Amino acid sequence: MSAQNEHMNTKFIFKNVAKLPSDALFAIKGRLAVDPRTNKVDLGIGAYRDNTGKPWILPSVRKAEQIVQADPNYNHEYLNISGLESLRKNAARIIFGDSFDIANRVVNIQSLSGTGALHVGATLMESLKLNERDVYFSDPTWGNHLQIFAKCGFNSIKSYPYWDAASKKLNLDGFLNTIKEATSGSVFVLHPCAHNPTGLDPTEEQWKVILESIKEKQHVVLFDSAYQGFATGSLAKDAYSIRLAITDILKDVPVMVCQSFAKNVGMYGERVGCFHVVLPESGYNAEEGSAIQSQLEAITRSELSTPPAYGAKIVSAILSSDELYKAWSDDMVTMSSRIYEMRHKLVAKLTELKTPGNWDHITSQVGMFSYTGLSKEQVARMEKEHAVYLASSGRASIAGLNDGNVEHVGYAIDEVVRHFSEKVIYSSL
Ligand SMILES: Cc1ncc(COP(=O)(O)O)c(C=O)c1O
Repeated sequence: MSAQNEHMNTKFIFKNVAKLPSDALFAIKGRLAVDPRTNKVDLGIGAYRDNTGKPWILPSVRKAEQIVQADPNYNHEYLNISGLESLRKNAARIIFGDSFDIANRVVNIQSLSGTGALHVGATLMESLKLNERDVYFSDPTWGNHLQIFAKCGFNSIKSYPYWDAASKKLNLDGFLNTIKEATSGSVFVLHPCAHNPTGLDPTEEQWKVILESIKEKQHVVLFDSAYQGFATGSLAKDAYSIRLAITDILKDVPVMVCQSFAKNVGMYGERVGCFHVVLPESGYNAEEGSAIQSQLEAITRSELSTPPAYGAKIVSAILSSDELYKAWSDDMVTMSSRIYEMRHKLVAKLTELKTPGNWDHITSQVGMFSYTGLSKEQVARMEKEHAVYLASSGRASIAGLNDGNVEHVGYAIDEVVRHFSEKVIYSSL
């Protein structure tokens, strides 16, 4: 067959497709599902579990579902391209604050949860050729960040130091230095709270310094807010960095914000989120705002046509009713407090066992995750010998701990730490 004929042979167009590795976290889920051990523990996937290890439907969500479904106008029609208006308005209100000038400063669109919001943001930047700039992510960051931006033509993906492995603290100097050294106008993706994977957030004072340095270099900021309410149980506290940026330090430049309702409403699979462009206090008129809106709609139209309606209606019902909002706020406290308690119970067990090393970072970290500091080898042994599953980076979803398994996890950590420290001693003899 001639080269040209081979090229034209339609039968084989999918013949040499490269096999990509499976997503590491979903691979953990697959191994866990077939593990016959009854004491297995899932600290992999970032989803809240109740104290019996089961997924939790928030009571506020159950109530909202009843109300939405009992509405005589309830239906499954398409939403508008930009999504449910009441969701967009209230989503902006909870993240930017009641007193923020949403009408004049926010252009937004409903998205396929936080991932979709990131994709809309990256696609918008691609269409404006901002993908020719360097984009910086924390080291480490949520793995999906890199692929979302790479798919949108960001060819220069870089990182800023964040986690200092030795001190298990924020590497603020490294972070600031990278901000300073980066080419002016680079894109910085920031986790506003409950950093994934480390559970380590800058203090309010540190945020001030970080945002001031970003301002000085005129970098472009995109906040990825996937855990509002999970760090402290308070929406306002968890939006501190975003509000500081848009009302104060970065009020003279546009700021992008991706917002997910997967975790804080516990509707992971319903894919509710928003992408927001916050305009500066001055310099943009209404027509320019509506031009940006049209770009967001064009992205959504070509990819989703219209965003999913069901979860949006539930979240909107919660955000627009005082009673449901109050119930939801209580639910967030329930989730964040249980995680807090589990952090303390795990560290208490390690202290009781006199596990070598310092484990205080587990209690000082916040949100769903803890960067335990366990090595890849220790993580592998946790899975093989103790049926405790977590990411190979050592990230554990603390939401997977409960009164029934926290002791087992404590023993498992103790055993793997001793196993490897003893090995080091032998090999150095
Ligand atoms: C940092 C971060 N951003 C965004 C997301 C997106 O989540 P979702 O698409 O489920 O809203 C996640 C989920 O784990 C995350 O950890």
